[in-house]
Amino acid sequence: MAELKGRDLLSLADLTSEEVTALLQLAAQLKSGQLKPQCNKVLGLLFYKASTRTRVSFTVAMYQLGGQVIDLNTTTTQVSRGEPVEDTARVLDRYLDILSIRTFEQQQLETFAHYAKIPVINALTDREHPCQILADLLTVEECFGKLKGLTLTYVGDGNNVAHSLLLGCALVGMNVKIATPADFKPLTEIVEQAKAIALPETEIIVTEDPEAAAKGSHVIYTDVWASMGQESEADSRIPIFQPYQANEQLLSLADPEAIVLHCLPAHRGEEITTDVIEGSHSKVWDQAENRMHAQKALLASLLGIGD
Ligand code: CP
Ligand code: NVA
Repeated sequence: MAELKGRDLLSLADLTSEEVTALLQLAAQLKSGQLKPQCNKVLGLLFYKASTRTRVSFTVAMYQLGGQVIDLNTTTTQVSRGEPVEDTARVLDRYLDILSIRTFEQQQLETFAHYAKIPVINALTDREHPCQILADLLTVEECFGKLKGLTLTYVGDGNNVAHSLLLGCALVGMNVKIATPADFKPLTEIVEQAKAIALPETEIIVTEDPEAAAKGSHVIYTDVWASMGQESEADSRIPIFQPYQANEQLLSLADPEAIVLHCLPAHRGEEITTDVIEGSHSKVWDQAENRMHAQKALLASLLGIGD
């Protein structure tokens, strides 16, 4: 069990390489049924944005751990009427054992974590999506039997998923190549952070050339061109991002055994073509399933279940 009891997960960079490895190992053991830790704890879900996978996978994971879940609907709690985050956090802290938050600003998540003593989990902010990447790494490890030395290419927007991929790949020694249009690069500070925490000999490349980035890669990964909160830009982004589409031509440049990942929801014909997402290289359904196993490992570790 990773030594994570009582901690928050606000960024993947909150974890060390060893802790990511331990979480992935625990996730695999939970998935195989080898371990069945049980608890009587309560998880709160406070989601300011839509979610299918994260909401349901956290809920089922907690149920399977013997715990309970409260969906803190942001339209029916006092959050909707502007109760300060500082107050909401201190009150929820007195009822819940652990809290998973999906919101816009990373700063708001950090304020929650500062005022709540219970573990707080980033279930997606505009800056990062760490739970997604734990599931992604679990999927890659299942497919290749290892992570270190593999190469992942991400094509599309330099968004929250790209940021967490940079950090997650760096921590496990996977080379990561991020190909985006010039005005949509990942934040420089996150690229620098990834380089600082990367295992030795891990390549971290940010480029505007998707084809060069895809060459020989083991994982082709993409995400929506307009994230939640950017809906008004969706149409104007299409022509800018078209050269970054995950399609057969791009996939043909990758390693012959390459897998295709997408965090979902997908927009067929935009960031990914139907033949690629439905094709034999696609592992998106295993990836979606792994959200549940990876988050079960995370919940068990943060709650110290089985210690
Ligand atoms: N990938 C992901 O986070 O999906 P949801 O938005 O449905 O939770
Ligand atoms: N980048 C996307 C991920 C959705 C799971 C978004 O933030 O909307």
